[in-house]
Amino acid sequence: MKCRKCGGAAVLELRRHNAAFCEPDFLEFFRNQVREAIRKYRMLAPGERVLVAVSGGKDSLALWDVLIDEGYQTTGLYLDLGIFDYSVESKARCEAFAARRAAPLIVSRVADAIGAPVPVIKNVTRRPPCSGCGLSKRYLMNRAALEHGFPVVATGHNLDDEAATLFGSVMHWQTDALPRQSPALASTHPKLVRRVKPLYRLSERETAAFAFLRRIDYIVEECPFAKGATSIQHKQILDRMEDASPGAKHNFLFGFLEKAQPAFARAEPVALNECARCGQVTTGTLCAFCKLADQVKRAT
Ligand code: AMP
Ligand code: FES
Ligand code: ZN
Repeated sequence: MKCRKCGGAAVLELRRHNAAFCEPDFLEFFRNQVREAIRKYRMLAPGERVLVAVSGGKDSLALWDVLIDEGYQTTGLYLDLGIFDYSVESKARCEAFAARRAAPLIVSRVADAIGAPVPVIKNVTRRPPCSGCGLSKRYLMNRAALEHGFPVVATGHNLDDEAATLFGSVMHWQTDALPRQSPALASTHPKLVRRVKPLYRLSERETAAFAFLRRIDYIVEECPFAKGATSIQHKQILDRMEDASPGAKHNFLFGFLEKAQPAFARAEPVALNECARCGQVTTGTLCAFCKLADQVKRAT
């Protein structure tokens, strides 16, 4: 196998691109895909201050690594969900990465904000753990960005994540979710910061290879509550399709973004208010996070 760029020995074959790369040319290919994502969706201005949400996994640490080298002023944000050893270990990976790259890291505990860690929230809501967890993560990312003066939050969602989310939304025709399925979400209210996903063009396998080649120490285990989650089943289905026909995930997601998404765009933007208690944005009077905090308080 020869590198498409230099003809040297390749370390990785990318079937969907019908190409193989040696180590330096793969790293450059990866960074080029991030640059292209940022350019296409005008995600970040040169040298902008960016809050990078890091979970300790390969995707978000690879993203942080690229953004530092691209010259953005980055700070990491780790949200401690309080999920036993999984949280202890993932936090340690984020701290080690921040120390190695001499980059600032903010650590914020979900339990301090809502009154209980994710395992307790899961019991209180009796809904899939990822629902209260996802809600808390989105809320706390936005809040931390506002408190620390960041105009934008970057997350490590990759092509596999985005294709699986799209698949789930289409399976249930969640037409509310489709306009928001985008690599970049603009700020539609002064208290809502922009959200960007600069890895949306790169597959999970590619981010794993990048993290490995860059010697990034990341947590391999999934969250213990993720077992059996429908998002994982959707990923498995898409993996089978990708095996049979390389490029299937890419075509599904990119085809949607280019051809179908405009059809789902809202004519009128959703009206947003400030939560009567915490001041963050909501479509109602009290935001979903404050309602969840009340529910946790009553039950504990
Ligand atoms: P997930 O929803 O776990 O697939 O994660 C998607 C993205 O959300 C990751 O790539 C991170 O950017 C961010 N994220 C997930 N968990 C955390 C966490 N505990 N703290 C900060 N950011 C996170
Ligand atoms: Fe949120 Fe697993 S990371 S429930
Ligand atoms: Zn609120």
